[in-house]
Amino acid sequence: MQILGIETSCDETAAAVVEDGSRIISNVVASQIDIHARYGGVVPEVASRQHLLTIIPVINETMTGISWQDIGGIAVTFGPGLAGSLLVGVNVAKAIALAKKIPITGVNHLEAHIYANWLDSSPANEKDSVKFPCLCLIVSGGHSDLILMERHGQFKKLGRTLDDAAGEAFDKAARILGLGYPGGPAIEQSAHSGIPCLTLPRAWLKESYDFSFSGLKTALWHLVHKGEVSVADVAASFQLAVADVLVTKTIKAAKQLKVEQILLSGGVAANLTLTQHFLAKSPVQVLIPPPHLCTDNAAMVAACGYYHFQAGKASGYDLDVVPSLSIG
Ligand code: KG4
Ligand code: ZN
Repeated sequence: MQILGIETSCDETAAAVVEDGSRIISNVVASQIDIHARYGGVVPEVASRQHLLTIIPVINETMTGISWQDIGGIAVTFGPGLAGSLLVGVNVAKAIALAKKIPITGVNHLEAHIYANWLDSSPANEKDSVKFPCLCLIVSGGHSDLILMERHGQFKKLGRTLDDAAGEAFDKAARILGLGYPGGPAIEQSAHSGIPCLTLPRAWLKESYDFSFSGLKTALWHLVHKGEVSVADVAASFQLAVADVLVTKTIKAAKQLKVEQILLSGGVAANLTLTQHFLAKSPVQVLIPPPHLCTDNAAMVAACGYYHFQAGKASGYDLDVVPSLSIG
């Protein structure tokens, strides 16, 4: 079964066709990063107008060489995200579904991030398969969630961020350091020439699986404003502090809950320091999507949608956006 996935929740206009929830037939992402970079972050009004301009060309490119008759379902992100951005994807998906008489399902963007772990990273190289129960760490620009997944479609939230999301912390730290937007790749790049030699705080919140990164951000601000520190050393120390907390708390939960695997996902899972620490320290297998499937894309939406259709979960034409949707 081939599913057309559509993703417009933030600043990426994306469409993809995925077969049987894992094999990527086509995958197109039009990033708006260059447009928003001059403002230092995503401007919602600009994002939705850009989605309007880009969505049809992106879907046409995705469908090149693929027949509409082979598309068994359309999966579209309906939340969480920016209302005006989500509306573009959901309405285009509904219009196509109606015109082509294809069933449609609304997908939670956070669940979709997890499903990036079901995608084959390349046609020749099948990924290790997911084994339940697994522990899912979603670390994106808006969320840091620790989720227990016992089967398809079942998500139990164990922890979340109490303030800044991990990606948001990277973005804010990069702004303080004058490294530009988006902050994650900028910090990772700068950290290459630095040493993690500076002391930065870690919020362990010992009795819970929740996270907190705002204290770390404030400490970084004080460090920079005292002066005489190398930006590269601050970037390396910051990155290590974030990785340390995410890795330690996730592994503790994995041991306590006796899960089979840890599944990483979300834009921050593209960070090499984070993934190397996970691989070095985890007693259970860690699955990590390739970087281009960690950041926003529609292949993960199509993979998640496939399991919706398998479970008989289709949406009606009254499907609407839910900007504040959560998981678990
Ligand atoms: O999942 P994503 O593409 O979009 C959301 O759903 O939010 O995540 C974007 C976030 C941004 O905050 C970005 O700075 C961060 O992921 N990010 C990274 C890296 N690449 C993207 N953070 C750390 N290291 C990276 N290499
Ligand atoms: Zn995302």
